[in-house]
This record gives sequence, structure tokens and C-alpha cells, in this order.
Amino acid sequence: MGDALNEIMTRRRDRLIVVSNRLPFAFRRDAGGRLRAEPGSGGLVTALLPVLRHRGGMWIGWPGTCEASPALDSELASVGEGAGYALKGVPLSPEEVRNFYEGFSNEIIWPLFHDLQLLCNFDPAYWRTYRDVNRKYARAVHEAAVPGDFIWVHDYHLMAVAAELRRLGSDFRTGFFLHIPFPSPDIYLKLPWRMALIEALLQFDLIGFQTARDRRNFLQCVRALVRNVEVEGRGQVVQVAACGRSVRVGNFPISIDFNSFMRQAAAPAVSARARELHALLPRRKLILGIDRLDYTKGIPLRLQAFHDVLTRYPELRERISLIQVVVPSREDIPEYRGLKTEIEQLVGKINGSFVDPGGWVPVWYVYRSLAQLDLLAYYRAADIALVTPLKDGMNLVAKEYCACSIEEDCVLILSEFAGAAEQLGKGALPVNPNDIEGVADTIHRAFHMGETERRKRMRGMRRSIRDQDVFWWVDSFLRAAITKDLRAFPQLESCAATESVDYHLSF
Ligand code: G6P
Repeated sequence: MGDALNEIMTRRRDRLIVVSNRLPFAFRRDAGGRLRAEPGSGGLVTALLPVLRHRGGMWIGWPGTCEASPALDSELASVGEGAGYALKGVPLSPEEVRNFYEGFSNEIIWPLFHDLQLLCNFDPAYWRTYRDVNRKYARAVHEAAVPGDFIWVHDYHLMAVAAELRRLGSDFRTGFFLHIPFPSPDIYLKLPWRMALIEALLQFDLIGFQTARDRRNFLQCVRALVRNVEVEGRGQVVQVAACGRSVRVGNFPISIDFNSFMRQAAAPAVSARARELHALLPRRKLILGIDRLDYTKGIPLRLQAFHDVLTRYPELRERISLIQVVVPSREDIPEYRGLKTEIEQLVGKINGSFVDPGGWVPVWYVYRSLAQLDLLAYYRAADIALVTPLKDGMNLVAKEYCACSIEEDCVLILSEFAGAAEQLGKGALPVNPNDIEGVADTIHRAFHMGETERRKRMRGMRRSIRDQDVFWWVDSFLRAAITKDLRAFPQLESCAATESVDYHLSF
């Protein structure tokens, strides 16, 4: 935990209440009918754990099941005791899961905020359920919190929680962090509920975005929709007066537990597994793509770029293989099902065109969740990481890959439209993921890059991720919520360029 925060927390014994769509544990009944808790993965839990344990706190969210029973409550209590902080479940009915989670969150906000408005299904019933479910989460906070607590709400599922808390008469201090991008006004204004949603967001006391660009987009939308908006300050956090309230708005790039990834990647079992991978795929460079199965990740275009590089640079055949790992996700949403078929057809096409029977296979395709050991071994083994989302809030795969590259001798190819590009733009090779030939040329460039340049670029990126790790992220967000003097938040160096111009690429 950061020093400033530590000091404030020791003086003030206020609790932290984290609110997110999912709890960090998913509860399911096993074949024998017993309730089991499976820990969720992810840096958010790791980052918040020290604060939750130190301050005492609670995590409120959906337990991953539609069951509401005394058995579930007692399981939540005992799992929470083991974890070191309390867990409070918000039960959702199947209809709420359909209209709130799959519907409004993932068929409207997710595609719209990733600039894919044509994939949106603007069903009015979705919005009604979204408000109702946000009210349900707010009620859970209202019941659990006591004066002095700080309520930290996460992500696009819960943008109306502060507004619903105010309707319940609560005046807790609240913060919100959006993990996905915030779109420009051209896109945001398409939303039928644009005004209600902006007004709801302005009910938080602090709103955090991943990048300076997201923050600027949000402020432009506020200006477009609300009269008499005033913005004070030019640093990482600004004070905004709008709708009769004063709200802080900042950019806080989320990160990973760098030291933990680095340590784990150095473990002998991981090194052995990475060597095994190279032995299975000998005498070639390994390129790695790891993504959730999601249309924002740009997997089909990436595969086309790989096809193109093998076509136009035949000397690379048999000297590179692409390992593409796809982790199943949101399988009940129609838009996701077709994507799997499209990816598999493209993998078949590339392998069918170039495979050397009994020898080289151009694409290794893995469709499943990975155990941590395998994930780390893929990161360690890969000579080049290909991170080419069409648009992404941050993209932690890029950061994890750098942290695990303990030899510092590899290359990151990174989409200009990933939030991570604002921070890693100088060390990574930038690409426009829609430019198939440009991505292919960049793979070719990465393949031939000399060792000195590879190391220099990777060292710089690793230093930056180590300095601004996930603990730095938690510290800066909470400090921005409680500090009196926002001058302690000068603009982040990596963001300075994106602040002053209307549209500016990070490279
Ligand atoms: C993104 C979102 C998270 C979400 C995750 C997995 O990273 O920002 O809030 O939890 O995807 O998606 P899921 O729908 O399975 O929770």
C-alpha cells in the first residue's frame, strides 16, 4: 500500500466497500449438490486485498448463481472469513441476468463503448432492468455501509449505483472506475438513454477512467449534454462542476502485480514448461495471442495478418508459429457464438494452406481457460506477443507479457487502440489492427529486430509497468478520492500528449 494512503488509513478507520458485478468468487453446486466457491482470477482482487484486509471491508456483487438460500448466505460468510473481508451477495433472477448482464451491459454498453454501435441491441426493456438491478446493488450497499465508509463501484454494469444510492437518501462517499473505454460524443450520443446515464455518472464523487483519452471523451459528452459545465485543473485529476454537483474526474491506468508475475515466471516449473514448448515447436520464433473470445479483440483480423505475412514473406514459413489461445466467454450472447466459428475457419484456412504434413504447423489454436502455469509458460516461451484489439480499456495481457519476459529479449506488437498503448507506446511496435498488411509488415519487422533494440524496448516497458503497478493504481485512485489538494496529481507523463489535442495517437 502507498505511504500517503497508509498514513490516512491508519488515522481514519473507515472501511472500503467494493461493488462489482461479480464477486471475486463464483458459487456453484457440484454434481453432489454441494455449494462450491471457485475463486475468480484477476489483478483487481490481488490489488484490493491489502486495503480490504487493512481497513476492514466488504465486497458486494453477484455470486454467479441465481440461487438465493440460507445455505448460500452461510457459504458466503465462511468464504469471506477465509478471504479476510466480508462478502455480500446480490442475487439476480434469470430474467435479470438476461436483461441486465447479457442485455444492457453486454448487448448495448459493451459494443457501444468499444465503438461497435452496429452490434447494439437497443431494447428498452434492457434499460429498465439495468436501473432496477443497479437499485438492487445500491440497496445492498445501503444496508451494509455505515457512515465514513468509502464505496468503490467498478465497471459498466453499475454506472447508476451512486444515483440509486442518492434516491435511497444515502450520502456515502462514492468512487467509480470504468474498466472499459469511454467513447467519443459521436458514438455516445447514439445511446437512447445518454442523458440519464451521464446524469447518473455525475452522482459519483470521483470517476476514474483508464486513459486520458477516455477522460477527455467523457468530459466532451458532459459538455455536449449538460449546460454550464466548469472544469478546474489540468492534472491527472480535475474538478468538474455540473448538474449542481462537484465531481472529480481522473485517469488511472490499471495495472498488474508486476513483482508477483515476474517471480512466478521465474519458477523452475514454468521455465521447464517453456522449454518443452520450444522443443515441441523447434527452430522457429513463437508468436503469442491470448484473448477472451470477444469481437473487440480483433482475432480474425490478426489471423488474416498472419496469413498475409506467410504469403508475402515466404522466407518466414517454417520459421514462425502463432500460438493463439482463446478463452471461452459470454457464450449465451448470440454475437459471441458466430465468432468462434469464424476464428476456427480462419485457423483451418491458414493451416490448410501452409502446413507441412509431419512437420511445421503455422497456427497452434487453443480454445479453453489456461491454468496459471501454462499461461506463464506461454508468456515465457513467446518471442513476440501480438496484442491487437480493435479497442480495449487497457489490455492486461500486454502488461503480463512484459512482466513475465524476465530475459527482456522479446517484442510486443500492440494495437494503437488498446489503453495500454498510452503507457507502452514507446517500447511496443504500434499497429492499427484494421490494417492487415501493416500488421503483417510489423510481424516481419519484429521477427528481424536485433537483440539490442529488443532489450532496450522491453526494459523501458518493464520499468514503467513496475513503477505503476496495480498497487500504485489502487493508491492513486483512493488518494484522489480523499485528498484535499489536487495539485498533488500532475498529469501522468505518458498522457501529456493526448490531453491538448482533439485526436492524437500515442505514437
Ligand atoms: C471485461 C470487463 C470486466 C468483466 C470481464 C469478463 O474485462 O471489464 O468487468 O468481468 O471482461 O467478462 P464477464 O462478462 O465474464 O464478467
